[in-house]
Amino acid sequence: KVYDSYFFNEAAFNTHDEAYIPLEPANVAPQPLNIPPLLQPDKSTDTDTYYTVEAQEGETQFLPGAKTKTWGYNAPYLGQTIVFENGKNVHIDLKNSVPELTTFHWHGLNVSGPIIDGGCHAPVYPGETSHIDFKVDQPAATLWLHAHPCPATAEQVWKGLAGMVLVKDDVEAKLPFPRNYGVDDIPVILQDRKFHENNQLDYRADYDPDGAQGPTAVINGTINPYFDVTTQRVRLRLLDGANRREWRLHLTDDLPFAQIATDGGILPKPVYLNRLMMTAAERAEIIIDFSDYKEGDTVTLYSDDAPLINFRIHSFEPEDRKLPDHLVDIPNPDVTPGTHVHQAVMSGMDEEVELNGKKFDMQRIDDKQQVGNVEYWDVTNTNEMDGGMLHPYHMHGTLFTVVSRNGHEPNPNEFGLKDTIAVNPGETVRLKVQFQMTGVYMYHCHIIEHEDGGMMAQIEAYDPNHPQTYKLMDMDTL
Ligand code: C2O
Ligand code: CU
Ligand code: CU
Repeated sequence: KVYDSYFFNEAAFNTHDEAYIPLEPANVAPQPLNIPPLLQPDKSTDTDTYYTVEAQEGETQFLPGAKTKTWGYNAPYLGQTIVFENGKNVHIDLKNSVPELTTFHWHGLNVSGPIIDGGCHAPVYPGETSHIDFKVDQPAATLWLHAHPCPATAEQVWKGLAGMVLVKDDVEAKLPFPRNYGVDDIPVILQDRKFHENNQLDYRADYDPDGAQGPTAVINGTINPYFDVTTQRVRLRLLDGANRREWRLHLTDDLPFAQIATDGGILPKPVYLNRLMMTAAERAEIIIDFSDYKEGDTVTLYSDDAPLINFRIHSFEPEDRKLPDHLVDIPNPDVTPGTHVHQAVMSGMDEEVELNGKKFDMQRIDDKQQVGNVEYWDVTNTNEMDGGMLHPYHMHGTLFTVVSRNGHEPNPNEFGLKDTIAVNPGETVRLKVQFQMTGVYMYHCHIIEHEDGGMMAQIEAYDPNHPQTYKLMDMDTL
């Protein structure tokens, strides 16, 4: 079966926003899709890997003429791709070479909060270097790293502080997936930007409390990219790295593709689709089989009707590899008896956004959950169906499973582990949430301006046998 639906409420698509900015073709000659290099460790042993991740200023040639001033991680814009191996100990120097306080948030990584997690309580001041150590403990997945200083996350991400993070493990390694990085396994970071005078970004000019947008699609930092296909199958690791934009993806000829993974890792079985909608911060891995095309053909990836990437087909070795019907088992532990159902209610739009009727306060812990417990969370979007918007809800410190949408089955591609879930206006999505590590963690809408605007709260995952106190930053002291 091939699904041909975006699954979400059409009436809530961002295209209906008054402030919606459609993507427009840019006046740039086709360029090869930038493939971020893999970050080389400073040192590595059988058990331990050491990295330096530096937030830096740079200049990027997006358009002909003047270069654009940008920020990135070990790169002028976006980041070098970081690969973690499950089970290894990782040691990272986090170096801040941008002229403002920043933080290094590992979105989707199973680490303790709030410091290693890198949310707003873990500032690294300009010119300083922090250090974190953790053990990688989760299945193979496509994650990301982004800045998270509250309330300046949106602006720093807009400047470029975002990069892809891959977790590898032995389970994924045995599955018949393409995994030759940059050849048939490619990162695809979807963003949109506006270029102002002299080709510069101007976040303040593009600021919108419902999320900055721009008319130019920028994919891995490339405008009008093409990718040379030299294998029959290509795996895309898609990340919606935009502040607000939704991407409704489809290919030339409605070519179907197999979705094999979601935010937190591989799906229990491949899901065949010819439409895929992604909201801010979500990831999806898909495999496209180009066997029906021949050398000289072009297959285009679109969002709505805007072309994003042209896949130029070259000759390739035919392969006869079918994906198995079953990929991995997703643990589905029972809810811990006697626990209550947590609520996360996202309300409002524009400056009015709130979570559970409140604006975010860095010093307030809004909820608690015992480490190891499995508890239900009901996540509600109270926007009106008419004129309301989708809110992509994200939790730090956990990979959850989706139980239901308004009491019905989740979408077919939501049966894996997730950390971000789009919620329709008027909908309640029930999640099963487990924290494996103690800490204070944020949960919020991932339209980044909504998170900066206060549609965010925090939870303490606690161990009753080891009570902890946390030093929580205050916005005023930043
Ligand atoms: Cu992508 Cu609070 O994070
Ligand atoms: Cu996160
Ligand atoms: Cu929102």
